[in-house]
Amino acid sequence: MNRKEFLAKLGMGAAFALTATCLGSCSSDNAGETGDVDFTLDLDAAANAELLQEGGFVISNKVVVAKNSDGEFVAATVVCSHEDLEQIVFQNNIWRCTAHLAEFNQQGEGLNANGSNGLAIYQTELSGNMLRVFS
Ligand code: FES
Repeated sequence: MNRKEFLAKLGMGAAFALTATCLGSCSSDNAGETGDVDFTLDLDAAANAELLQEGGFVISNKVVVAKNSDGEFVAATVVCSHEDLEQIVFQNNIWRCTAHLAEFNQQGEGLNANGSNGLAIYQTELSGNMLRVFS
């Protein structure tokens, strides 16, 4: 078996594993909402340094706060609407779940089957170096 054949077999195995995982429990009737949200992040704090660069994100209060490629701050719940796992990240300018690869645009609309339930999105408001995140 050469490298290409090995990778092809590996890919098919991974696809089967994901499909088998989802068949039993791929449903959710919410968008991963975490309830009322209202908190403020200090962009000068070392813990929030990721937010100084486009594509960076931090997780606080069960919310993923990110700086998109336009330099705007966006926020979404960390709880995926697919199986309620807290694995949402901001990657390549979209929300993505690292569990089963659900994808959502910045407005929370699902971009693939696992993301079809959408994702709760929160508002942001920058005042000086203080970033408010709220529902
Ligand atoms: S929990 Fe399955 S894609 Fe997020």
